[in-house]
Amino acid sequence: MSSGNVYIETFGCQMNELDSELVCGQLRALGYRFTTESSQADVVLYNTCSVREHAEQKVWSRLGELRDRKLTQPGLVVGVLGCMAERDGEDLMRRMPVVDVMCGPGELDKLPALLDNAVRTRASLLAELPEHLNATDVSARQVALQGNTSRRSATLAAAADTLELLDLSRSISPISVGADEGTGEFARRTAYVRITRGCNKFCTYCVVPFTRGAEIHRPPDHIVDECKRLADAGVIEITLLGQTVNHYRFEHGASVMVGGVMQPQKGRTYAGGHRRDPFAGEATTTFADLLARIHDEVPAIQRLRFVTSYPRDFGDDVLEVIRDHPRLCRYLHVPAQSGSDRILKLMNRGYTAAEYTEFLDRARAILDQPEIGRPLMLSGDFIVGFPTETDEDFDATVALVERARYKSAFIFKYSPRPGTVAIDKLADDVPEGVKRSRNNRLLLAQAQISEEIGASLVGTTPQVFVEGLSAKERKRRDRAKPANTPSKIPGGVALTIAGRAASGPAINARDEACCGTKPREEDAQTLPDQVQLTGRTDGDVIVHFDAPPDRAPESMLGCIVPVRITQVRGLSVLGTMAGE
Ligand code: 5AD
Ligand code: SF4
Repeated sequence: MSSGNVYIETFGCQMNELDSELVCGQLRALGYRFTTESSQADVVLYNTCSVREHAEQKVWSRLGELRDRKLTQPGLVVGVLGCMAERDGEDLMRRMPVVDVMCGPGELDKLPALLDNAVRTRASLLAELPEHLNATDVSARQVALQGNTSRRSATLAAAADTLELLDLSRSISPISVGADEGTGEFARRTAYVRITRGCNKFCTYCVVPFTRGAEIHRPPDHIVDECKRLADAGVIEITLLGQTVNHYRFEHGASVMVGGVMQPQKGRTYAGGHRRDPFAGEATTTFADLLARIHDEVPAIQRLRFVTSYPRDFGDDVLEVIRDHPRLCRYLHVPAQSGSDRILKLMNRGYTAAEYTEFLDRARAILDQPEIGRPLMLSGDFIVGFPTETDEDFDATVALVERARYKSAFIFKYSPRPGTVAIDKLADDVPEGVKRSRNNRLLLAQAQISEEIGASLVGTTPQVFVEGLSAKERKRRDRAKPANTPSKIPGGVALTIAGRAASGPAINARDEACCGTKPREEDAQTLPDQVQLTGRTDGDVIVHFDAPPDRAPESMLGCIVPVRITQVRGLSVLGTMAGE
């Protein structure tokens, strides 16, 4: 048993957000408490991201600040978790003595033990500290990294995957799934569930296969059980997570038990381009099977979606399951990364722009049903300024964005990452100014499309999952309240953020520009005495609307309500609750 005030801050992707939540659950079960103020903490944890350099720099600067703080707070324990620990562990240890605990994303099940050791060791070393030393000279360092085992064979990785225990440990109760730590008032209604870990794709720019290891798939029974337990605790919306989520495939005969726990399975090797899973037999749970199982066996989940999809291996079977199961969301996040075949090849993406658009056309043909108010919404990721990218390559990317008509897109400037093929083989030869202007041009192109898609929704009445206060409303309340008063209603734009914050972590979501429907302060149309709420449609479009005067805004959080879309201002989609 341990106790202490823990502050955890999460950088990067949804997978990290889920990891932080699970880590918090484990620590809470051991008696740790959480604080949302770093300055109040005895233990500061950063769950880090290595996908782009920018995200790592933020952590370096946070660690620099903690170095000073440790002089006045010698008992402070600092942990670096996640991809940066895994990728950069040695350098971190050398340059940042302030770090007491380092734990890679594949070892997070060991974090409670590491932390406990670090807290105890640090306390006893400090108790005997010789006078000529100060607190920063004391090291109680605890390390768990996969190191070169992270790319051991996928079979071995699956057999030795103790991380499954982390997912299995998820402590689900109405409180722990998302009650606001400050007030205890709000039970979480939306959650992430991991279905695959790691990645086998080796896109040449990407660190993920090195930091998160080989792709492995969790047993379907574990996943369905987790969804059921979340539903029993009040969750009505689940997002399934995987780096290449649609690769999910579990062969039951091939399962192994380790320590009484059914282990995940290695990722299968795709020949590419298939439309259905041609090899799936009776004893196989395909991704399509898994979606149908969760839909049918957990009817309390009113919205089920998944991220991130890999475009090449998307079978019609999956699209048909989405079409035929009403609680599966009409939303696909399918990064293209570039519209130039030459760049796609250099990126090792495994498809051409034409193959990508063929997939989008196929998805739209099967799924798009605007007449029943459920148009298919797509989003994508792009990298601009990849090595050797010419103006023509970039024009092809703009053309793809215009053709794809995403509701939103994340656009990143290429960031060379140590350990990847691209940094070793290709000079980062697109000047920063060119990257920036391509970034802006693509954002502008996407902004226009996002606005048009928003405008096409005007007059429709989609069901909206209420996530929280709009950004504008939060600002208004922050201005009105005395300093340090916790907000009673979680912020919107992603209730998952509120949920995560509620379980401890503060979130620094994706660190570069995303263009899509998102709030803009000047778009506020709320009357002074009305509360503006934010929610999402089934297709993941963010909508702002006023809480009706006769309903407490708190009572609407986590509910799905009909909102009539009345107007689009810039990137903001605005509406009023139907029946108002
Ligand atoms: N530089 C810039 N963006 C990157 N991404 C991944 N690696 C890099 C990199 N080295 C982007 C991709 C991916 C998203 C999660 O991050 O677009 O889809
Ligand atoms: Fe990285 Fe490519 Fe795997 Fe996505 S599919 S995590 S970009 S290697």
